[in-house]
Amino acid sequence: MTEQSAIAPKPTPTLPDAQTVTSVTHYTDSLFAFRCTRPRSLRFRSGEFVMIGLLGDNGKPLLRAYSIASPSWDEELEFYSIKVPDGPLTSRLQHIQPGDELILRPKPVGTLVLDALLPGKRLWMLATGTGIAPFASLLRDPETWEKYEQVIVMHTCREAAELTYGRELIDALPDDPLIGELVGDKLLYYPTTTRENSTYMGRVTDNLSSGKVFTDLGIPPLDPKMDRAMVCGSLAFNLDVKKILEDAGLTEGANSAPAEYVVEKAFVD
Ligand SMILES: Cc1cc2nc3c(=O)[nH]c(=O)nc-3n(C[C@H](O)[C@H](O)[C@H](O)COP(=O)(O)OP(=O)(O)OC[C@H]3O[C@@H](n4cnc5c(N)ncnc54)[C@H](O)[C@@H]3O)c2cc1C
Ligand SMILES: NC(=O)c1ccc[n+]([C@@H]2O[C@H](COP(=O)([O-])OP(=O)(O)OC[C@H]3O[C@@H](n4cnc5c(N)ncnc54)[C@H](OP(=O)(O)O)[C@@H]3O)[C@@H](O)[C@H]2O)c1
Repeated sequence: MTEQSAIAPKPTPTLPDAQTVTSVTHYTDSLFAFRCTRPRSLRFRSGEFVMIGLLGDNGKPLLRAYSIASPSWDEELEFYSIKVPDGPLTSRLQHIQPGDELILRPKPVGTLVLDALLPGKRLWMLATGTGIAPFASLLRDPETWEKYEQVIVMHTCREAAELTYGRELIDALPDDPLIGELVGDKLLYYPTTTRENSTYMGRVTDNLSSGKVFTDLGIPPLDPKMDRAMVCGSLAFNLDVKKILEDAGLTEGANSAPAEYVVEKAFVD
């Protein structure tokens, strides 16, 4: 069961770059999502991240990088967050309530954007943990569905409850009034766990290397002519996935030089 709270935003900002929290949903003891007001001037590309935070005890902003989980057309912003017990920011951020203010620096950046990939047929979104956040944005962006014939989401967490945020979002896509029709039968979702039994088990890397994901989904293996990939997880995860993609013939892209796959860290180890 998720715990949810929401109220109308408070009108008067007092922090620098202040935005107001509009809703908070707790998924597990270590994961929550929240929505906040969006600066009128903020333009971003789905998949990018910004710096957000709270005022520290020393009166200075305590900021961390956060992927924007909402799509670029959304009137509000959504974030999906870890709760690190002793984490300078998230030990406090996990207690925010609707009506509270947070700091949001309106300078979006990042490589997990559609522009950094060459045209292709299938788009793979490969994530662990909170690495699903940028894909929560891209999955709700019509451009993703206009550009690709198939979108395959592999998301792996230790336990099943940690998949809930992504699962609920993906389950809701076909009924979404804006993109439901575009999604059609293009979406293939492959959620797995590694430390709790569930329908599909195992690391993204193992399921790609063994070919299990291709067999389970009934699709052909990676092909640099048609496959594009976006990767977001821990540094170790990103490195291991990069190797698999490179071995399959895909090369890494960037905003300045689009190619077959792009990578972003979900957190700094
Ligand atoms: C480009 C980028 C995008 C990011 N996007 C998000 C996001 O959308 N959601 C999010 O929750 N975090 C995200 N992070 C991580 C975020 O910046 C903070 O590290 C996190 O909020 C914890 O802050 P903290 O001050 O409590 O602890 P920190 O001192 O920042 O981190 C303490 C330790 O906690 C662990 N940790 C931190 N973040 C995570 C995480 N997300 N998942 C698992 N372990 C973690 C790491 O071992 C880290 O060394 C992102 C980081 C980067 C670099
Ligand atoms: N989530 C929790 O329940 C939990 C509990 C205690 C402490 N922590 C701490 O919180 C931090 C983040 O935990 P997290 O669970 O969000 O992230 P994580 O440790 O990166 O694991 C998330 C998922 O990614 C998989 N994974 C990790 N490294 C991989 C790699 N190199 N290649 C392929 N898959 C890989 C994990 O599989 P494996 O299970 O096979 O590693 C797990 O399913 C860590 O520092 C951890 O010590 C988390």
